[in-house]
Amino acid sequence: LADLTPAQISQVVTHARFLKQVSLPWLAPSNRIEKKLHMPSQSLFSKSIALLFNKRSTRTRIAAETAATLLGGRALFLGQEDIQLGVNESVRDSARVIGGMCQGIFARVGDHEEIEELAKYSPVPVLNALSSLWHPTQVLADLLTLQEHAHLFDPTHMTQPVPSDAELMQTTKTRKFVPLPQLRPLTIAYVGDSANVLHDMLVTYPRLGHSLRVATPAQEKYRAPTEVWDRVVKLGCDQQIVWVTDPREAVHSADVVVTDTWVSMGQEAEKAERLEAFKGYQVTEKLCEEGGANPDWKFLHCLPRKEHEVDDEVFYGPRSLVFPEADNRKWTIMALFEYV
Ligand code: CP
Ligand code: NVA
Repeated sequence: LADLTPAQISQVVTHARFLKQVSLPWLAPSNRIEKKLHMPSQSLFSKSIALLFNKRSTRTRIAAETAATLLGGRALFLGQEDIQLGVNESVRDSARVIGGMCQGIFARVGDHEEIEELAKYSPVPVLNALSSLWHPTQVLADLLTLQEHAHLFDPTHMTQPVPSDAELMQTTKTRKFVPLPQLRPLTIAYVGDSANVLHDMLVTYPRLGHSLRVATPAQEKYRAPTEVWDRVVKLGCDQQIVWVTDPREAVHSADVVVTDTWVSMGQEAEKAERLEAFKGYQVTEKLCEEGGANPDWKFLHCLPRKEHEVDDEVFYGPRSLVFPEADNRKWTIMALFEYV
């Protein structure tokens, strides 16, 4: 997301909401005519997107496959067991060959350098489906989720709730797009590991007027790597970021509390060490009360979730927006596919 301007980011989120609104009646099983009338634009008709995934995925993969289908295109899932890449063929040659037959590549890789190399040699656009450093499509879904829940953060009750799915189906019959309400500037806290999801938050939220408070353990390895922090500073985002080691301090006055796994994919060998390093960082009601979070704070998590980083009371409780957040992976990825 550091590559996009704030206006471009907002445009993708607004477009995602539009696609969601247009597509929901089409998904309703009851009315065949409705389905036909409200199909989203078939902008991917006769186009294919290669899903080059070297790591597991539930949400990103399903979002991409179903989104491409709704847009009339095809997503080809290419796991690391399926193709020659990395075993018999170089990234350079694979990028050229895939790009010769597909119109886009959505890639989930290990080292971030792998996706940079893919982008360097690919004749078609490459989108990041997660790398060691970044997870841009996750933060687009988080933004849409926050905007859809803007009324929860508005103490003056001036912001109206966005229509429910059932109401959306009604409004869409008349083809009226209900724009998303303005989100007031939020204080967003992140408690946990400085990993890909946080990194995209760092280069995005401050540019959209939100302030960030981050708590990670003191050791250097749990802080943002230089290549990420350089982008944060270059974009002027560091002015809106408070970085501490005490999770209670981080959640002070937070409207939203976010966390992610303490053991990202590929770090399994460090599990014991990490569980030890992150002791005291679990997001709980008690932690947020002691830290003085906004009493109405809401909770986000990219999933998959482990109980280490957030307890069941928060995760399954009324503050949690995690499942609408997961659903929104689809509409935001669909918006990106359509734009690109
Ligand atoms: N949030 C997310 O990226 O989930 P998956 O790893 O299941 O795609
Ligand atoms: N930080 C996590 C995100 C998973 C969606 C990981 O990289 O495994």
